[in-house]
Amino acid sequence: MYPTPQLSALEQISQRRSVKAMDLQGPGPSAEQLQTLLDAAARVPDHGKLGPWRFLCFQDQARQHFGDQLAQRFATLKPEAPDAAVAAERARFMRAPLVIAVISCVQEHPKIPQWEQFMSAGAACQNLLVAANLMGFAAQWLTEWYAYDSVIDQVLGLKAGERVAGFVYIGSATAKPDERQRPDLQERIDHWVEPVLK
Ligand SMILES: Cc1cc2nc3c(=O)[nH]c(=O)nc-3n(C[C@H](O)[C@H](O)[C@H](O)COP(=O)(O)O)c2cc1C
Repeated sequence: MYPTPQLSALEQISQRRSVKAMDLQGPGPSAEQLQTLLDAAARVPDHGKLGPWRFLCFQDQARQHFGDQLAQRFATLKPEAPDAAVAAERARFMRAPLVIAVISCVQEHPKIPQWEQFMSAGAACQNLLVAANLMGFAAQWLTEWYAYDSVIDQVLGLKAGERVAGFVYIGSATAKPDERQRPDLQERIDHWVEPVLK
C-alpha cells in the first residue's frame, strides 16, 4: 500500500509518488488531521511575510455541490458533450474525501516580485502533498480545466489578484502507484565554475 509509514521522512520524500485522484478513497483526514495539513501547508517560505495564498477546503456535501457547478459550466462550454461527460464533471470532486484548493493571492509590492509570491503558493501545494504522505494519506495536485475558467473562479469566490495554484486531492490509496519515468537527474545537475572571461 502507499504511502509506506515504516520509511523515514527523507525516504518517503525521495520515493514520493502522486496517487491519481480516481485511485483515492476514504477514509480521509479527520478535522484534527485537516488542521495539521493546513498548518504544514502554511509553513512555507514567503518573502516579505505576505502570506500569498489561502486554502478552500471541500469535504462531504460541498464536493457534490461544487461538482454540480462544474457540470453546469461544462455543459455551457460544450453543449454537444454527451451526458456521460457531464456526469464525469459532476463527480470530479467526489474522487477524494478531501480536496483543498490552494489559492495564490498576489499583490503589487515594491520589493517582492509576483513571481516569488506565485512560487510560495506552489510550495504550499507541495507541503500539502508531503504532509499528507507523512500522515499516511495519498494525494495528487491537479489543475485540470476548471483552474483556468473565469466562471469557476467566481464560483470559488476568487478576488482580484487571486488564481488557483492547484486542487490537492487527498485520501487513502486504493493501490500502490507504479514508478514512472523520471527526468534524467544527472543531466540536470551541474557544478558552476567561474567562466574564463575573454
Ligand atoms: C501545477 C501542477 C498542475 C498539475 N495538473 C495536473 C492535471 O491537471 N492533470 C494531471 O494529470 N496531472 C497534473 N499534474 C501532475 C500530477 O500532480 C503529478 O505530478 C503527476 O501525475 C506525476 O506524478 P508524481 O507526482 O508521482 O511524479 C500537475 C502538476 C502540477 C505541478
